[in-house]
Order: sequence, then structure tokens, then C-alpha cells
Amino acid sequence: MSKNTIIYFIAAVAATGGLLFGFDTGVINVALPSLREQLQLTPSQESMVVGAVLFGAMFGPFISGFLTDKLGRKKINIIASLVFVVGSILAAIAPDTNSLIAGRLLLGLAIGIVAATVPLYLAELSPKDKRGRMVTFFQLAITLGILLSYVVGYIFGDAENAWRLMFWAGFVPAIILFVGMLLVPESPRWLLTKGRNEEALKVLNQLRTPDEAVAEYNETLKLLEEEKLNKSSWMELFMPKLRIPLFIGIGIFAIQQFSGINAIIYYSTDIFKSLFSDSQATLATVGVGIVNSLATILGMQFLDKWGRKPLLYTGLIGTAVCLGTVGLAFLFESSLPAGLRQMMLVGGIYTYIIFFAISLGPLGWLLISEVYPLKIRGFASSMGSFNHWFFDLMVAISFPLMRATSLGKNGGIFFIYMIVVLLGLFFAKFVVFETKGLSLEDIEKKYN
Ligand code: BGC
Repeated sequence: MSKNTIIYFIAAVAATGGLLFGFDTGVINVALPSLREQLQLTPSQESMVVGAVLFGAMFGPFISGFLTDKLGRKKINIIASLVFVVGSILAAIAPDTNSLIAGRLLLGLAIGIVAATVPLYLAELSPKDKRGRMVTFFQLAITLGILLSYVVGYIFGDAENAWRLMFWAGFVPAIILFVGMLLVPESPRWLLTKGRNEEALKVLNQLRTPDEAVAEYNETLKLLEEEKLNKSSWMELFMPKLRIPLFIGIGIFAIQQFSGINAIIYYSTDIFKSLFSDSQATLATVGVGIVNSLATILGMQFLDKWGRKPLLYTGLIGTAVCLGTVGLAFLFESSLPAGLRQMMLVGGIYTYIIFFAISLGPLGWLLISEVYPLKIRGFASSMGSFNHWFFDLMVAISFPLMRATSLGKNGGIFFIYMIVVLLGLFFAKFVVFETKGLSLEDIEKKYN
């Protein structure tokens, strides 16, 4: 097998974690109608069923934060895949709402673990000139998982026990992740932190030319030696010298989530129902999934060429314009001609997804996988991931509540999201720094 084939095999296996992330978060969009009908959910039970995955995901980073640096990147993902298997079965066979919530909590826990560990595993295995593209495989897999959940929803929508069939579908990638993870190598950088130097060199030789392997091996060892001299612990993340990466982990996810992405990913069918029939609304949601995946592939072409910052600026300006357009469509609902309003809403949402998918989507996971020093990388990127779930949960809970108020009717929610995105321009200018073409070790030297 050529070195490239091995790298892409590893990326595909690891990215299955992203597929499960996308599937298990996105499926709620299409499973809700059948859940409402069969389990007679009260509004508070409904928000618990939606929020359970996100709530569970907030705890995943605490588990991975302490175990990723101890057990290694591979073992922790094997554990997560088993949790996925158990959670998928429990959700699919749940006899009542409480067991369903328990299954969804477990799925969330597993998502929280893989979201914190897969991007960093990919970053540590990638050659520096391909790192952006490799880590973005994870984002691509998230979008494919979301798309898969919408398609499964479209296919099973009218079946009896539709939600059970939809949850069963998540069992298949969980098994694939488990088997695949047994086959891939451990991260050479993590092996070096444990003094398993020979194994590390062996893995590097599988992935790089002999010269590159030795150079990377020596560079990482040298860095670890320097780090040993000034002993570090996870508390270091909160020290002044790491303030910028700490802010990046909080800021990028605050902006990503408060740009309102998941108001659309989780509730688009409900939004489209105000314009179309039920089946057209589900089809329009499948369209969101397709556009999301295609635009992510487009973004992958540019991350390592243009760099992270130009894409971030483009995405922020583009999403702000689209959010404003959607907001105006609500604000002038009664005075706009129906056709124009429809175009502004559907066009605005689809174009928003494109701008998100080439920038804020991949950049969140990419930046937290590359800006932290090796010794605390597992812990730090887990904390970044925790921020993601916390903000995600806030948006998922607040969107349906705000929609019922005047903010929903006059487009206020979308104007709030637009303001957040515009504030993101300051974050992009003053906090984010360019990591294109730098090795993880070069990035780390910036803080020493
Ligand atoms: C975000 C998810 C979002 C997805 C949409 C990811 O980067 O973390 O919250 O649902 O993008 O594609």
C-alpha cells in the first residue's frame, strides 16, 4: 500500500467518528415528527430528547481530556466507538421516553469524546502541508453524517416506528468505527511523549519518506526535551503565555455556534414548513445537507492554499449578509411579494450554509487541533470541544423558545446571529493567527 493510501485509510476510519457526530445530531431534525406522535412528547420532554445528545457531549471532553494524553489517541476512540454501539442500540429499542433520553445521553458522550480526539489524532498524523485538508475530513464526515440522517429520514419518514429505524441506522457506522480503530496506528507524537520511540519511528516510516520520518522524529523529540526542562501540566493552559490559544478555543466555537448554524441543522424542516408542504420541507432539508457537504469539499481545496484567515474573513462576511437577508424576509413578511420572500429565505439559508461550510465549520475543529502545545494538547483541545457543546446546547434550547416570541416573527433571531458573526471579524483580526504551512512544532515555538 502506498503511503498516501495508508494516510487516507486512517483519515477515513477516524472520520467515521465525525459521521456518527453528524448523524446522531442531525437525525433529530427528521425523527421528531414520528417521536412526537408515538411517544406523545410534552414540550419539555421534547427539548430533553433534543438536548440529551448535546448535554451528554459536554461531558465527553472531561473524559477524553484526562484520558487522551494518558491512554493514547487510539484507545480512547475505541472506547468511544463502544459507547456509540451501546447508545445506538438503547435509543433504537427504547421502550419509553426515559430510556430514549438515556440512549441519547450515551450517544452524546461518545460524540463529545470523538469530537475532542479525532481532529487532534488526524493533525498529529498528517504531513504539515496536508494538515488542513486531513483534519477537514472530520468536518466533511460530520456533514455527510448530517446528510445521511436527512436521507434516512426521507426514506423512513412514513414507516411505522420511523424513529426506531432511523436510530438503528446509526448502529452501522458505530461498528465500522470500532473495527477500523483496531486497525489504524497510534499517533507517533503521542508515542514519543510516552518514551515509545521505536514504535513512533515505525509509524512515521509507514507514513512519510525515510528522510521526512527522521526529521519529524527528531524535531518532536527535541521539543519534548525542551518541554521537560520547564515542566508543564494541564494548568498551563490557563497561563498568560497560552492566552491566545485559550481564547481561540473559546472564541471560534462561540462564533461558530452563535452564527445559528444548528438552528438550521436541527430545525430546518420546521422553518421550511412555513413555506412548503411537509414532504417538500423534508426535501428542502435534504438539499441543505447536500449543499453543506459539497461546500465543505470546496473549502478543503483552499484551507492549505489560501490559509485559515482569508477563509475565515470570507465566511464571516458571507454568513453575515445571508443572515441579514433571512432576517429581512421575516421582518417584511407581509409587504414582500411571496415569490421574493421565498427566494430570500431559501436562497439566504442555502448560501449561508455554503459560507459556513467553507469557513466556520472546518476552522473550529482545525484550529483546536493545531494551536495547543503537544504536552497538553489532549486536555486543551478537549476543553475547546467542551465550549462547542456548551454553546451548541444554548442555541438548540433557545432557538425554539425565541421563535415563539416576537424575535421569531420579526426576524430578530437572525439579526442577533448576524451581529455575533460581525463581531467575529474582530476576533479574526486580533486573535486568530495563520497556521498554514507551519508544522505543529513551529506553531508551538510561538509560545515558548
Ligand atoms: C459544527 C456542528 C454543525 C456542523 C454543520 C460543525 O462544524 O460543529 O455543530 O452542526 O458543523 O455542518
